[in-house]
Amino acid sequence: MIFNMGNITKTYCIITYGCQMNLHESEKLAGMLQNLGYVKTDNEEQADIIVFNTCCIRENAEKKAEGNIGALKKLKRTNKNLIIAVGGCMTQQQGYADKLVKKFPFIDIVFGTHNLENFAELLTEKTESKKHIVAVSEKEGKIIEGTPKMRSSFPNGWVNISYGCNNFCTYCIVPFVRGRERSRLPEEIVKECKDLIDSGYKEITLLGQNVNSYGHDLGNVSFADLIRRVSEIDGDFRLRFMTNHPKDLTEDMVKAIAESPKTAKSIHLPVQAGSSRILQLMNRHYTRGDYLDKIALLRKYIPDIAITTDIMVGFPTETDEDFKDTISLVKEVRFAGAFTFIYSPRSGTPAAKMDGQIDEAVSKTRIMELIDLQNGINREQSKAYLGKEIEILCEGFDEKKGKYLGRDTYGRMAYFNGKNLIGRFVNVKITRTGGISLLGETVSVKE
Ligand code: 5AD
Ligand code: SF4
Repeated sequence: MIFNMGNITKTYCIITYGCQMNLHESEKLAGMLQNLGYVKTDNEEQADIIVFNTCCIRENAEKKAEGNIGALKKLKRTNKNLIIAVGGCMTQQQGYADKLVKKFPFIDIVFGTHNLENFAELLTEKTESKKHIVAVSEKEGKIIEGTPKMRSSFPNGWVNISYGCNNFCTYCIVPFVRGRERSRLPEEIVKECKDLIDSGYKEITLLGQNVNSYGHDLGNVSFADLIRRVSEIDGDFRLRFMTNHPKDLTEDMVKAIAESPKTAKSIHLPVQAGSSRILQLMNRHYTRGDYLDKIALLRKYIPDIAITTDIMVGFPTETDEDFKDTISLVKEVRFAGAFTFIYSPRSGTPAAKMDGQIDEAVSKTRIMELIDLQNGINREQSKAYLGKEIEILCEGFDEKKGKYLGRDTYGRMAYFNGKNLIGRFVNVKITRTGGISLLGETVSVKE
């Protein structure tokens, strides 16, 4: 339905920062806006409402969002009816909403992560009363089912399995802005997955801050059970999940992954650091040895599994020796990919108050060394693909390259030619390898 006032269609624009969880939550915001009759625009200048879905995991995510919000002051002056809403993790931080409204008094609605599902009501309230609205509940509420979703990542469908986090890694703001872990009922998850597959989606990605602890609060179901139940759904699809915590990854989960041909042969297993001393300071609940044992467990059941990771450098007190432990771990594991970060102190977290904060110049040198090492590993891994035929799920079309793109079961990205391929499984013969991505020719397309 398109909401018309005379000939005027109301339009929305959502700007998302941060992780997949946020991308999916923007799909929910879009669903609510469409239900209210708004249609999507990518042009901020034409929008009747601009929603910022923010992230606060590192300082630069916050700075970027604040810079972009500030830049809207002019637009708000020329378009008095424009509604600006800011939500997500950044606004959920203690005391932040007040600061934000003081800094940018032209913001109309501020809503926290715990208020996202009520966004439609907040917007209706705003349009009826013209008042500024700040809705940031301190505590997480019960899980709300049935929020409309306007999905934007076909052929992949994101599916929440849990919300919040109980781990309190000392560097991390997430438990403070997303509350304690709550698991969705397995029946709801399976139903959502089935609906997606029945409507043509070819990949399901189960989402949680720590998927491995799924079900702890429900009592009678584990992540392994969930993998088994979702992979039993009829249809041709790939199952992915993220993100994992090494301390909670069990042998039963690894077996469930190994035994399900629909589950992709890749796992994202953030290590954060290679030094047991640093891991302890991070409150990760595993040592370097424990992490390597989990890698061995994964490779025992799934020898060719691709393992990706997150690594941080410059955690308080990190010495050259500690950093060498990270380098040696990366050499030993040979990750299929690594997201690397410079530690960023987050107000309210224990690590921000620790002595021994590391000079940024030192962190920058360390991260460069790490990136160089990982790039080299990726180049070598890519070379092994030369001449091979692999099955890719086509995800999109890259306008700049003029080629389709997609990933194989290991998560490796490839580019290729063809016609009408999005959402289809394509066999591609790899003809060239550069860095982490591959280039190939389409051999056949699965019916
Ligand atoms: N500084 C830098 N990186 C961080 N991450 C989480 N918190 C911080 C922080 N304060 C990284 C971790 C996590 C990923 C999502 O972001 O590596 O796994
Ligand atoms: Fe995602 Fe964490 Fe950023 Fe929130 S703070 S958007 S949970 S990465």
